[in-house]
Amino acid sequence: MEFGALSRLIVISNRVAPAEGSHSGAQGGLAVALQSALREMGGIWFGWSGGQTDVFTGQVNLQRGDGYTTATVDLEEQDIDEYYNGYANRTLWPLFHYRMDLAEYERGFAGGYQRVNERFADTVRPLIEQDDTVWIQDYHMIPLGQELRRRGCANRIGFFLHTPWPPRRLLATLPEANELVETLFAYDVLGFHTAEWLESFCDFARLEMGADIEEDGDVIRFGGRTVRVIVCPIGIDTAEFRALAASDTAQHTCRQMERSAVGRAMIVGVDRLDYSKGLEERLLGFERFLLEHPEERKELFLLQIAPPSRASVGSYQRIRNTLEGLSGRINGEHADLDWVPIRYVNQGYPRDVLAGVYRASRIGLVTPLRDGMNLVAKEYVAAQDPGDPGVLILSRFAGAAAQMQEAVLVNPYSAEEISDAILTALRMPRDERIARWRALMDGVEREDVMWWRKRFTDELIAAPSLAEVD
Ligand code: F6P
Repeated sequence: MEFGALSRLIVISNRVAPAEGSHSGAQGGLAVALQSALREMGGIWFGWSGGQTDVFTGQVNLQRGDGYTTATVDLEEQDIDEYYNGYANRTLWPLFHYRMDLAEYERGFAGGYQRVNERFADTVRPLIEQDDTVWIQDYHMIPLGQELRRRGCANRIGFFLHTPWPPRRLLATLPEANELVETLFAYDVLGFHTAEWLESFCDFARLEMGADIEEDGDVIRFGGRTVRVIVCPIGIDTAEFRALAASDTAQHTCRQMERSAVGRAMIVGVDRLDYSKGLEERLLGFERFLLEHPEERKELFLLQIAPPSRASVGSYQRIRNTLEGLSGRINGEHADLDWVPIRYVNQGYPRDVLAGVYRASRIGLVTPLRDGMNLVAKEYVAAQDPGDPGVLILSRFAGAAAQMQEAVLVNPYSAEEISDAILTALRMPRDERIARWRALMDGVEREDVMWWRKRFTDELIAAPSLAEVD
């Protein structure tokens, strides 16, 4: 069915980007991608305001502009503690990123998560009209589809997971794993960034819950419901990012960075300050390079931009302290009068500034230990000068690696591999850099955020509606 058949799209996610479009700021890649998709096709974007209220009233703040309407609600302090800081970021996030050591299982978190999803359902339900297509995003809102069904919503509802889906044996440790996964069968279509995450989901559904999976693996039946599962990797708004990279601000930043590099090669990393991003391992890999290649060390430096994230959660406070200590130690041990190996920066920058930084850098170092996708890798590629591009070093364990095989792929746990990859990238001849970049850029252009949105919503529209099925 053609995309034109979609009457209106209702996107639901925990974070909502302002409708009055800022193209800048330190937003997560998901918010930026959804903003582009909604600007293109219009609709409503519903979620948490990020704000707090004494008593939850479900009062919606509607804002129009920039092609779509945002609808946000405030949450109570206990909601924020149990739902966002608790179940979303102390239970599901670490578990879904294979960090059993950090996952906290508490009934209070699970209860708060369920309560907030019910509150979201109560609040958004009146905004949904009969022909709307509803698209729910990410691990904060897994049960929301089921709650909307319970409130009589027969619309097509899709769910997209932006994190990895953990291996079956890890997920089985979550006390309410089966109940949580069962709620996913309220959706019509489930989307994952990679075949690996999708296969792990199917494994759990089949082996732990006895779901029935059709032979080609893309239709699952459980409890009288049929769900279609697809691999649909998210992209960036490539045209927009290329335009940002050509902007005056980006060009000015690029020149400024080149001047401040005084002929040295700049390696850049840009990540939310999150333990899943492999920042500690990255700094140790960089130090390894300094130790193994003393003759090269003053020829380069690492700029690590890491804006703080989820600062109320203990594991995030700890990683911040660890990185401050580690970057300080490495600089103290290796710096000289005229050279500091690591510039470690704890703030976010507008995207046009980042585009200029990417363009000025010789190497993009993107080494998460586990990542659903990673859009920094794609933005790095999109910002490069086609005649003299930098080299992308990418973790094998980022979802992006499935599409970006022409990057220099590394195991982010291995300091030696990171060190070797830096040497390879530094010495890579221009012809090879151009050939790799061209291949990467083709993919970033072909499978951009518009492609992602259309592929998912096409699948969703094509799914039989509940009204037809029941
Ligand atoms: O991309 C994954 C994600 O968790 C998004 O859902 C989220 O908006 C982003 O990272 C940033 O995290 P947070 O919203 O917790 O600041």
